[in-house]
Amino acid sequence: MLAIFFCLFIALASAYPARGPCTGDCWTHDPSMIQRESDGTYFRFSTGTGVNTMTSPSLTGPWSDVGAALPNGSKITLDGVDSHDIWAPDVHYQGGTYYMYYVLSKLGTQTSQIGVATSKTMEPGSWTDHGIIGIPANSAYNRIDPNWISINGQQYLQFGSYWQDIYQVALESPLGVGFNTPHQIAYNASLNHRVEGSFLYQHGGFYYLFFSGGIAGSYTATYPAQGEEYRVHVCRSASGTGHFVDESGRSCLESGGTIILASHDQVYAPGGQGVLTDKDLGPVLYYHYYPLSVKQSGGNGIAGYMYGWNELDFSTGWPVVKAV
Ligand SMILES: *[C@@H]1O[C@H](CO)[C@@H](O)[C@H](O)[C@H]1NC(C)=O
Ligand SMILES: *[C@@H]1O[C@H](CO)[C@@H](O)[C@H](O)[C@H]1NC(C)=O
Repeated sequence: MLAIFFCLFIALASAYPARGPCTGDCWTHDPSMIQRESDGTYFRFSTGTGVNTMTSPSLTGPWSDVGAALPNGSKITLDGVDSHDIWAPDVHYQGGTYYMYYVLSKLGTQTSQIGVATSKTMEPGSWTDHGIIGIPANSAYNRIDPNWISINGQQYLQFGSYWQDIYQVALESPLGVGFNTPHQIAYNASLNHRVEGSFLYQHGGFYYLFFSGGIAGSYTATYPAQGEEYRVHVCRSASGTGHFVDESGRSCLESGGTIILASHDQVYAPGGQGVLTDKDLGPVLYYHYYPLSVKQSGGNGIAGYMYGWNELDFSTGWPVVKAV
């Protein structure tokens, strides 16, 4: 019996490879990562006052906190929300400009808006805020966790968290949706639909929809039951605009979504992920996690979140988290 448990333990312990290393300031929460075109500098943006900005000469560090992207906050006004408290940035580059989608929201409610800011350099304070992008309000979704992609020349934003989960909307321009209406692309029918933080990434002939399933949280006083905490799922689609399925062929509108990364070793509750196309390494999955030792010692709220990363191997047609 003991031997069986021991073997099971070994199997679980080795289910996922170790995360990539990080030196310097390794805090993050709902990161967005991008390399600057001009000099290859890595930028890591996080939820936080004015959008926290960290930079590094390499993926591994040393990372430095260089300040707030929007030190004066957003021009969006939402009842009961501090306009400096900006969530879930998503940054991309097109036509010589960096675009940052961001969120103002009242936690656990549909009082939310997605806005956009632009910069030529991504330096703190260099961002021009353009405010709301104009996704129509709807009781079906929550307007948080934006993620941009271009598919055959048409730009889209993925967004959503709980309620009816993940939606996609075509953009009229990078600054607004115009009269386009969102359509649902992923949904978990169970419990209260714990799906959020979507990120769509094209590789080979497919579009891969990464999302965080399970319970996010500061993991301080009360912890979810084991297995219910944050983890990273993936679905794929040939068109990128619908018909997402998981590795077993289950529709991602019907609770599908293959888990590719979950709690292991010191990495508890990985999520808030995205994929960086590293100029040297290719596709890299980045995420936040909560160190198990911090959780076990009672935690220290969102200050405890850390940045993790692993290269992704797409050779089977499905992304696999690689050992460093
Ligand atoms: C923030 O607001 C102050 C006061 O209005 C202004 O002087 C400063 O230029 C603003 N900073 C940014 C980055 O917009
Ligand atoms: C759907 O939700 C259930 C209950 O929370 C969970 O066990 C399952 O892993 C979820 N699946 C996906 C793909 O999110």
